Amino acid sequence: MLSAEDNASLTRVGRGTPLGELMRRYWQPVAAVAELAEHPTKPVRLLGEDLVLYKDGAGRYGLLDRHCAHRRADLCYGIVEARGLRCNYHGWLYDGAGACLEQPFEEAARPEARFKDKIRLSAYPVEAKAGLLWAYLGPAPAPLVPDWDLYHEPGYKQIVFAEVPCNWFQGQENSIDPIHFEWLHSNWSQALRGDNGPRAPTHVKIGFSEFDWGFVYRRVRADTDEQDELWTVGRVCLWPNCLYTGKFEWRVPIDDETTLHVAWFNDPLPGNEPYEQPRIPYWHAPVKDPVTGRWITTHVMNQDFVAWAGQGRIADRTKEHLGESDRGVILFRKRMLEEAAVVARGGEPKAVVRDPMKNVRLSLPRVRAGRGTPLGVSADRPRPMLWHAGQPKAIAEEYARVWDERARRVKA
Ligand code: FES
Ligand SMILES: [Fe+2]
Repeated sequence: MLSAEDNASLTRVGRGTPLGELMRRYWQPVAAVAELAEHPTKPVRLLGEDLVLYKDGAGRYGLLDRHCAHRRADLCYGIVEARGLRCNYHGWLYDGAGACLEQPFEEAARPEARFKDKIRLSAYPVEAKAGLLWAYLGPAPAPLVPDWDLYHEPGYKQIVFAEVPCNWFQGQENSIDPIHFEWLHSNWSQALRGDNGPRAPTHVKIGFSEFDWGFVYRRVRADTDEQDELWTVGRVCLWPNCLYTGKFEWRVPIDDETTLHVAWFNDPLPGNEPYEQPRIPYWHAPVKDPVTGRWITTHVMNQDFVAWAGQGRIADRTKEHLGESDRGVILFRKRMLEEAAVVARGGEPKAVVRDPMKNVRLSLPRVRAGRGTPLGVSADRPRPMLWHAGQPKAIAEEYARVWDERARRVKA
């Protein structure tokens, strides 16, 4: 149980709030590189701020106030040009730093006023990495986007976005809750299938330890022992808002009551040589069945979303009853509040990367063959996507095609 005050501190994301300021010290994934290649502007709401992400005519990315400084037209409908983004309403032109470069009528009518020099939009840096576009809303100088080793491994990569109608912190608490696996993903799936057979072996032991990039959590089930990789290696609750299990799942705060879930997959291919994927595809996964309006419950992440959103738009933690299984959740809350206090004192919080020499293929503990994770390269063709409902057929087919090609090459 938490005080109402701590609950507010952990869940508010606006500028000037404790966690809003902490989260502004980290880069957040907001779009796919492929998305902006298809259409050069995209509305982005991040940490409660309404913004427009765009790619200008010179190939540079920018992230500006969503609304024009003149009379607030929506810059998502702006015109991209070599020097920046031009408002479609009266033609004011902005660059990636938020400076107003042109005001066609003002400059013709009263050039000596230099009205444009008085105009500035909020502007934030954008970086491309691993097929994603990352935004940083904090103070300069911006740190580096972490370069995780998995980004460089061969495989078929894809990015999946889903919008979940609840506060992001509920999602990240789930990243350090090992007991939900046996219930939400095993026993509930079984019950949904109408299967009354024996339930999944219960967890008998859980452990948590903090390291540079977050927390490792470990678990032993009734049918395993401490030799199991899920105990010896564990899984990573990656600071501040990601789960890493050989794939990434970022819980990105759109605002206090909505989360953009960004999943990044690297599925195995036969053979182990480098593989250049020309473009990392992306898709948007539904969370509700459009016909019935009910939550989708068939896939792993969809099940997680049902649990998080079911806790309410912002879970009322003054009413909960935490037990032994929640030791990780308690640890995570405590550390987030401590790091928010570090930021409030003007310090640098945990896991900010600044040294380019060190930011090279950073490695994380990874379970290779443990229970519940995809086993390396199997002899079988790819299975359907387990994690998210709604994978477009074209992406499943492309993966199968690439897989077959590699399998033929490996055999030859
Ligand atoms: S509202 Fe954008 S130029 Fe007028
Ligand atoms: Fe889960």
